[in-house]
Amino acid sequence: MAGQYQEYQILLLGLMMMTTGLFCASRAQDPSQLSLDYYLKTCPDAQKIVRAEMECAVKEDPRNAAAILRLHFHDCFVQGCDGSVLLDDTITLKGEKEAAQNVNSLIGFDLIDRIKNQLESQCPGTVSCADLLAIAARDATLLVGGPYWDVPVGRKDAKTTSLELANSDIPAPNQGVIALMTKFLEKGLSVTDLVALIGAHTIGMARCVSFRERIYGDFELTSHLDPTSEIYLGKLKETCPVSGGDDNIAAMDYVTPYVFDNAFYQSLVKGDGLLNSDQEMYSSLVGFATSDLVKMYASDPLAFFKQFSDSMVKMGNITNPEGGEVRTNCRFVNT
Ligand code: HEM
Ligand SMILES: *[C@@H]1O[C@H](CO)[C@@H](O)[C@H](O)[C@H]1NC(C)=O
Repeated sequence: MAGQYQEYQILLLGLMMMTTGLFCASRAQDPSQLSLDYYLKTCPDAQKIVRAEMECAVKEDPRNAAAILRLHFHDCFVQGCDGSVLLDDTITLKGEKEAAQNVNSLIGFDLIDRIKNQLESQCPGTVSCADLLAIAARDATLLVGGPYWDVPVGRKDAKTTSLELANSDIPAPNQGVIALMTKFLEKGLSVTDLVALIGAHTIGMARCVSFRERIYGDFELTSHLDPTSEIYLGKLKETCPVSGGDDNIAAMDYVTPYVFDNAFYQSLVKGDGLLNSDQEMYSSLVGFATSDLVKMYASDPLAFFKQFSDSMVKMGNITNPEGGEVRTNCRFVNT
């Protein structure tokens, strides 16, 4: 039964491809093409398949949730959400994995491969890696206690990457609030989106190289330095000495590192943010708009959840105008 149905689907898909291939060879992708029911007929279980794999992975190690959420962000900020971040370097293609903010830092590629294999075995050549990542990022959030949102789908996977854009467009931890706002505005994302999306740092880890400047810099100036903060700062300095230990890691939300909640913003209000870029949202002298938002999310978790969901959809809507393909292996363009 299932086999017959699948064969029928493949046949249908083949026919569709033949006809669309004849009349519209390569059309630029319009973000309005994203829709909630894109895979309804071609891969009705796509969402379920992604969810099942994400459930296992997050249960096994909650860090997986952080890994995937970040991959989606780094994907969307370079050429749009087109799976470009997932491409491996080859002789003919220079990927984005060596970019300053990605190298020795991005994880989760094996999990993406695992999910993709499941999708390919049930609906070959159907679900793009970019969509897989967008759905998995939503599931990651949900599985560690964050909000749910419907994920519009229909993205295509890029056939190209840009190491240059990855280096220039992905924000860095020691940038100031103006630079960070600018990077978001350039992607069509507002200051509100910036402050809400950075709330993703309520889960996951940062390496010592990412927060050394902060803990030996203005931490003692921004922090209230109550006994908890004193102890926290002491531990951070143990984890991250003045030199060496570059890859040692610490949670960005030391209160609840693997719960998606608003404790992260409460730490910023206390002045205890781990990254300079995080603390900037509250403490920067030019960031009055951002600090008001931080205060609001610190006191109103539902307002944070609502805005995070909306901003994730907005970020996920950044498409690559070049269009593309549905990759069968997320690491390589189709041959
Ligand atoms: C101002 C913008 C942002 C900056 C400067 C920034 C910077 C960073 C840095 C430096 C790290 C640690 C990486 C390392 O040390 O290896 C990190 C981790 C992370 N970021 Fe961001 N980030 C920003 C926005 C976002 C956004 C918008 C999201 C998602 C919506 C996000 C999700 C994450 C997650 C989940 C982690 C933890 C990853 C893990 O545990 O492996 N970040 N970010
Ligand atoms: C995102 O795209 C979907 C589908 O094209 C659209 O319905 C929705 O309004 C967009 N949302 C935002 C916040 O841009």
